Amino acid sequence: VHPGRWCSRATALVAAVGALAGMASVVRAQGDARTGREIFAAACASCHGATGTGAALSQVGFSDPIPDFTDCVAASRETSQDWAAVVRGGGPVRGFSHRMPAFGEALSPEQVDRVVAYVRSLCRNRSWPRGELNLPRPMATEKAFPEDESAVTASAITRRGSRETATELIYEKRFGARNQIEIALPFARHERADGTGWGEPHIGDVAIALKRAVYHDGTHGTILSAQTELGIPTGRQSSGYGAGTTMIEPTLLFAQVLPLGWYLQTQTGVEFGADRTRAETEALARFALGTTIAPGNGRAWSPMVELTGAKELVPGEEIAWDLIPQMQITLSRRQHIKISGGYRIPVTERAGRPRELLAYLIWDWFDGSLFDGW
Ligand code: HEC
Repeated sequence: VHPGRWCSRATALVAAVGALAGMASVVRAQGDARTGREIFAAACASCHGATGTGAALSQVGFSDPIPDFTDCVAASRETSQDWAAVVRGGGPVRGFSHRMPAFGEALSPEQVDRVVAYVRSLCRNRSWPRGELNLPRPMATEKAFPEDESAVTASAITRRGSRETATELIYEKRFGARNQIEIALPFARHERADGTGWGEPHIGDVAIALKRAVYHDGTHGTILSAQTELGIPTGRQSSGYGAGTTMIEPTLLFAQVLPLGWYLQTQTGVEFGADRTRAETEALARFALGTTIAPGNGRAWSPMVELTGAKELVPGEEIAWDLIPQMQITLSRRQHIKISGGYRIPVTERAGRPRELLAYLIWDWFDGSLFDGW
């Protein structure tokens, strides 16, 4: 064994043993009456540093990166619940390094909550919306929380004679504490009306959206964002793949965390064409109600149901309401890769609006590469 490596292993061992020994003595000396800061100093600071920025690698004796808890870019987006799971069960429960020890035996549940609350307080800038407001993504209702995410969505209409498949590639990037830019590339393929099979795949209207969280309150679980989406007429309207004019869609996105693990997300606004002769102005309202169940094994199941309404602002038009029952499931231990499946069921104005199968895969790339965290 290379002497340097041996030495670093020994230091790593000393850091881990030191943390546990330090903790044991504090537990004995002060029982449960410790603040989060005291628990941190005794049990965490040997690796995470006295100020939470991470101890020097020479001091900890391993080369795995240590997170900087004062960096809001990373620290604000996690939930206290996820961090408590890591502190209780150790790094591997969320696909992190085994260097992050499990404290489930050494600390009581209240002590874990206290030290996690302290760690979360190390990001001092309150402009960053808290991870608690980052709720599971519904199929139609867009999220209020600004994300760093890539998604592939797919939909299919299977009714004979009007079969259609559509795919959309979506890229979302946060900038600053509250903003997000999104680009969506849609592709679709229709069954030919004359019954001669499937047509060629076509690109639809490329969409670019800007979103800003205008109000957020992590304590009360409320977030409100304003978004404007532009649909660029890249699709061929004559073949049914585009609107034929630039579409402008300003909406308000709202989310509220409810008691008992439930949440409500809404999106309301209008969509109109730059050329009014090519597209009717439409009002839209989308509501998603859901909950998340995480039965011990780390995988989270989020059943949701959406009610979506759209109405062309023309006299005599009725509101077209749809119901979308759906389920999102986290795939990776780190919960940064998720899939969802749903079914759109038109409930009013059903003529010419067949049922539709919906699915997506999302990758929260800030939390790790596609291959990390399994
Ligand atoms: C022996 C060193 C060591 C000790 C002691 C330690 N940690 Fe860690 N911790 C780490 C390392 C290394 C990571 C990064 C793991 C990774 O990114 O794969 C980590 C990660 C974490 C994370 C996950 C951060 C994220 O990016 O999501 C949290 C939360 C955390 N530690 C809290 C604590 C708390 C609270 C304590 C004290 C009760 C503590 N740690 C004690 C080494 C340690």
